[in-house]
Amino acid sequence: MASEDQIQLFELAGAAQPDPSTETVDRARLLLDAKLPIPPGLYADMQDLRQHCSNCFRCELSQTRKQVVPGEGNPLADILIVGEGPGQTEDETGLPFVGRSGELLDKILASVNLTREKDVFICNVVKCRPPENRDPKPNEIAACNGYLREQIRLVDPKIILLTGKVAMATLLGIKQGITKVRGQWIEQEGRWYMPIFHPAYLLRNQSREKGSPKWLMWQDIQTVKAKLEEFSGRQA
Ligand code: URA
Repeated sequence: MASEDQIQLFELAGAAQPDPSTETVDRARLLLDAKLPIPPGLYADMQDLRQHCSNCFRCELSQTRKQVVPGEGNPLADILIVGEGPGQTEDETGLPFVGRSGELLDKILASVNLTREKDVFICNVVKCRPPENRDPKPNEIAACNGYLREQIRLVDPKIILLTGKVAMATLLGIKQGITKVRGQWIEQEGRWYMPIFHPAYLLRNQSREKGSPKWLMWQDIQTVKAKLEEFSGRQA
C-alpha cells in the first residue's frame, strides 16, 4: 500500500469516532420534541435560557399560552422559589407571581426584608399557563423539567422554597400533603429545600390566628431568613 493511502486510512480511523462531549446540540429540535431531553449545561446563562425557552413548543401548553414565563429575580440569588405554573396575569405579562398570589408572596418576603429583585429568583415547574389554571399534567412537567434543572444549576441557590404540592412532588418526589411537610428542611446535594404553602392557599385562608396557615407561613419565612443569615455568617 502506498504510504499516502496508509496515512489516509490512519486519519480516517482517528476521525471515525465523534466525541459526544463536543457533538453540537440541535437547539431548534429541542424546542419541538419533548422526547429529546434538554442536556445539562446547555445554557450559558439565564438570558440564554430565557431566549431559548420563549420559543418552546415541547408540550401542548404552548398551544394555549399567550407568553412563556421563564422566571424573574436575581439570577445569582441564594434563594430559588419554585411555583406551580403561571396563572392568567402571569400569562399576560410574562412574569411569574404577579397576580394576587404574587402580591402576597412579595409581602411575605418583605416581612423578613427580602425582595424579589435582590434576594430571590422566582420560577415555576411549568413555564406556560395550564388552561383554566388546572394542575399541569405529568407529560407537561416532564417536557419542562430540563428548563427547571438548568435554572437550578445556573442560579446555584443554597435554599429552594417549594410553593405547593406540584413543586414539592416534582423536585423532591414527595407525594404527602403539604400541611404535613411544610416548614421542614430537606437537604439534598448541598441544597436546602423547604416545602411551603402556596400563596393562593393562604388567600383562601385569611385567619392569622396561631396555628392557621398564614401564621405557619410566618414561622416558615423566619426559619428561612435565619438559615440565610447562618450562611452569610459562615461566609463572613
Ligand atoms: N401561581 C404559581 O404557582 N406561579 C405563578 O407564577 C403564579 C401563580
